Amino acid sequence: MHATIVIAADHEGINRAAQTLRTGGLVAFPTETVYGLGADATQDHAIAALYAAKGRPEFNPLIVHADMAAAFDSLVTWNEDARLLAGRFWPGPLSLVLPTTPSCPVSLLARAGLPSLAVRVPSHPVARALLAAAGRPIAAPSANRSGSLSPTTPTHVEASLGGKIDLILAGGRTSIGIESTIIDMTGTTPCLLRQGGVSQEQIEQCLGGPIALGTDAAQPKAPGQLASHYAPDLPLRLHVTSARAGEAFLLFGPELGLIGGGKRLNLSPSGDLHEAAANLFAMLHELDKSGLDGIAVSAIPETGLGRAINDRLRRAAAKFQSIKFQN
Ligand code: TXA
Ligand code: MG
Repeated sequence: MHATIVIAADHEGINRAAQTLRTGGLVAFPTETVYGLGADATQDHAIAALYAAKGRPEFNPLIVHADMAAAFDSLVTWNEDARLLAGRFWPGPLSLVLPTTPSCPVSLLARAGLPSLAVRVPSHPVARALLAAAGRPIAAPSANRSGSLSPTTPTHVEASLGGKIDLILAGGRTSIGIESTIIDMTGTTPCLLRQGGVSQEQIEQCLGGPIALGTDAAQPKAPGQLASHYAPDLPLRLHVTSARAGEAFLLFGPELGLIGGGKRLNLSPSGDLHEAAANLFAMLHELDKSGLDGIAVSAIPETGLGRAINDRLRRAAAKFQSIKFQN
């Protein structure tokens, strides 16, 4: 990529950063927990670029940020406990996982295809001003390369992502320094998925009772676990060069020599892995609803974003292997 520009988090810098986000760019910005790497949550290509910059080996779902709770009304369905927690701890270091609305405009890639979405209103004044100026939901994982520590200064961000993102909004050291607490509010009992800036005790005091822990065997919903990831209903066959008539065919790159398929979609006819990542979940969903018997997928290179794409496809295919063995 090009050089990353570091700018002061003043009025002018914030407006420039908001403009960069609106046009699909990547902006690191301070929150009270850690620096986030922001991208427009509604643009598939911006989200694909974000995963590429982080070098994530898989597509973890992202937390979507806004400057006020009402901005999430069209994205998620609220419940009473979630309202209580948001009222007490927002703006602040708490993320709530809620069911998405049918018309939720957030990229399926940002949601990793899940029917739920993590949302948060941060309290850092620079984050709030940026989110207000951007005027749209912003997905923001911690602004570090995958596998390295979360950044709490602009220097950390530059060391980890310099040359890979458009802008760093420099706003000093973050005050909390650990990530937000994540609570899954989609079940009957709220479930703590990640300890963070708001303590478990504070949450339980606010709700007036104990909450479940994500490590509970009965609640296998911790991030990264297979159960929390999207898999199509139709069985998947990978590395296919010839699809059956009863199968949908998900292709990648030039279609020469890749034959058959009752319905064909191409992740990226030109063989661009960013484009393929941006299309992956939306196309899987479409083929899943095709009424055919299965989905055949052509080979995807195991490099860059291709690793994350293949990780998702292998997990989805593995689901059917275990079903087969049970028979
Ligand atoms: O403090 C924070 O939360 C920072 C700042 C930038 O806001 N962000 C952050 O994002 O830590 P990230 O991507 O590093 O961590 C997000 C975590 C992941 O472990 C992911 O699996 C989980 O949130 N997550 C997101 N959406 C989820 C969902 N729908 N269900 C379960 N877990 C979810
Ligand atoms: Mg992180």
